[in-house]
Formats: sequence, C-alpha cells, structure tokens
Amino acid sequence: MKVAVIGAAGGIGQALALLLKNRLPAGSNLALYDIAPVTPGVAADLSHIPTPVSIKGYCGEDPSPALRGADVVLISAGVARKPGMDRSDLFNVNAGIVKSIAEKVAECCPKACIGLITNPVNTTVPIFAEVMKKAGVYDKTKLFGVTTLDVIRAETFVAELKGKDSREVRVPVIGGHSGVTILPLLSQVQGVEFSEEEVDALTRRIQNAGTEVVEAKAGAGSATLSMGQAACRFGLALVDALQGKENIIEYAYVESGSPHATFFAQPVKLGKTGAEAVLEYGKLSSYEQTALDGMLEVLQSDIQAGIDFTQA
Ligand SMILES: NC(=O)c1ccc[n+]([C@@H]2O[C@H](COP(=O)([O-])OP(=O)(O)OC[C@H]3O[C@@H](n4cnc5c(N)ncnc54)[C@H](O)[C@@H]3O)[C@@H](O)[C@H]2O)c1
Repeated sequence: MKVAVIGAAGGIGQALALLLKNRLPAGSNLALYDIAPVTPGVAADLSHIPTPVSIKGYCGEDPSPALRGADVVLISAGVARKPGMDRSDLFNVNAGIVKSIAEKVAECCPKACIGLITNPVNTTVPIFAEVMKKAGVYDKTKLFGVTTLDVIRAETFVAELKGKDSREVRVPVIGGHSGVTILPLLSQVQGVEFSEEEVDALTRRIQNAGTEVVEAKAGAGSATLSMGQAACRFGLALVDALQGKENIIEYAYVESGSPHATFFAQPVKLGKTGAEAVLEYGKLSSYEQTALDGMLEVLQSDIQAGIDFTQA
C-alpha cells in the first residue's frame, strides 16, 4: 500500500504522518507532500522511527511524485480557522487549493481512495468530485469527506458524561461537517439513556467542538492532534479494507444516493475497491428528525457553492 499525505508539513499532516509511520501495515510506503520546504525534513525525522514503513518527503509546486502509485491519499492542505471564523470563511483559499490537488490526483492516481480533510468539507468534497468528473475519472466509491473527528469527539463526550470507557462507546454522526449539519444520533447509542436536556447540550457541544479548540488555541489554528488521530483511524480503515479485511464500517461524507442531499455523511461499508455500500443510518428520534430537516438548506447550499466554484 502507498499512502500519500498532502499538506504533510501542517499541524494535521505532521500528526497524521507520525501516527501512520507507527501504525501502517508492514511493507507500506508513506509519501509526504506539502508546498513547505520543510517537508523532506519531516520525512527524514520520521524515517528514524524503527517501523517497517518506508517514508519519503516531497515539496515544491508539484505533488505528482507523491501521488503516483498511491492507493490512499489523505488531504489536509489548506488554511485552518482562527477565532471568529467559521469553516465557510476558509472557502476562498481552500477551494482553489483543493481544485488544483484534485487535478493532479485525476492525472497521477485517478483510482486512489481519497480522504479529504480540508475545510469546508461540505463544499470541498463537491469541488473535488466536479474536477474528477471534468477529467472523466470520477468514481463516487473512492471519494470520502473525513468526518471521523465528529465521531471521535461524540464518543469521547458521551463516555465522559456517562462514565463509560470511551473505547467501547459508538456514536453515529450523520449529515455534514460544520455547525448544524453535524448530527450525532444519540438515540442510537447502545446502553445509555439521555435526558432531553442532555441530548440538546451534547448535540450542541459536538457541533461546536471545533470552535472550542479554535478558541482555546487563541489564533494558533484549529484541531490538529485529534484530527490527526481521526484521519489515521479513517486512513487505516481504508487500508485494511483495500487489503481485504471484512466488516469495516466508518462514517464519512460521500455521494450516497441520499434523498437529502447529493453528499451526506452516513455509515459506509469499506471494501477492496473503496465504498462497497452506503448503509442506512436507522431510525431517528423526533429531536434528530427536526435537526435533520433544519440542516438540509445549509447543506444543500454548501454543496451548490462547490459546484458553482468549479463552473465559474
Ligand atoms: N475534516 C475535519 O474534521 C478537519 C478538522 C480540523 C481541521 N480541518 C482542516 O484541515 C486543514 C488543515 O489544517 P491544519 O491545522 O493542518 O493547517 P496548517 O496550516 O497547520 O497546515 C496546512 C498545510 O497545508 C499546506 N498547503 C497549503 N497549500 C498547499 C498545497 N497547494 N499543496 C500542499 N500543501 C499545501 C501548508 O503549507 C501547510 O503546511 C484546514 O483546512 C482545516 O480547516 C479539517
């Protein structure tokens, strides 16, 4: 397996690269790319960790050498939020970065599975899809907006509140990846009961958890370490599935055939070629149904903004 991390010198990219160097299966190749000149140094640094994963770093204007032959590409290239910004404020810069990386992916590794981390995910994923369509190489089973951070936050917060072992708590999170479009399905968490007040407070905390970190970092960026962990979980799930491991299900923002919006985060069964099936998310409580109905306009307009960007 060759895994490429694009944006590898950044806060997320370095954390993710460290985790992958330690956790990818023996014999894997890890390629790091970033426009920042430090990237080969990041790879040299990580190469001293004694694991059976080879690593190489690339910088400059052209990601092609990192992308060629990649099975999985995890992309966190772009700018991150500062206090007072929401994810849509990142659109102008990150949309262009994602478009140019998608063009290179279409050329160098059109069959790779892509995990897109760069915000605003609700919009960057449709941009990526449109670029791949224009190049005639779009395959919806290989493009994933990474929403795993919402899932791990939800699992952490539920475990904390209910005194559970966080490794044993599973929380489905559907919809999109910003504000009200993030919808944790607390009614489906096994073995715990929530009061109405708890559901409301937890839902809001999960939706605003990114802002908690942005404010705590006071201008120095957004979540990087927890996001590195989340992206590693998703990336390893992809690698395991591509290598034939069965019954791998992760939540991700995909073109799912959902009646709600072209792209929607829901459970995805991963297999040897990418998304084998997009699964139903099950029954919603009335609180969740109201929240779902309330998010759709925002989600659809985020998606449209991505399509409009590629047509401008
Ligand atoms: N999906 C999620 O849950 C989630 C969570 C947190 C952050 N994010 C997003 O991830 C992105 C990265 O965040 P970060 O904290 O690592 O930011 P960062 O600023 O620390 O790192 C971004 C890196 O991207 C690089 N870069 C910029 N343009 C590039 C290009 N064209 N090609 C390659 N590399 C390029 C920069 O040099 C930098 O090293 C942001 O858009 C942020 O909003 C997503």
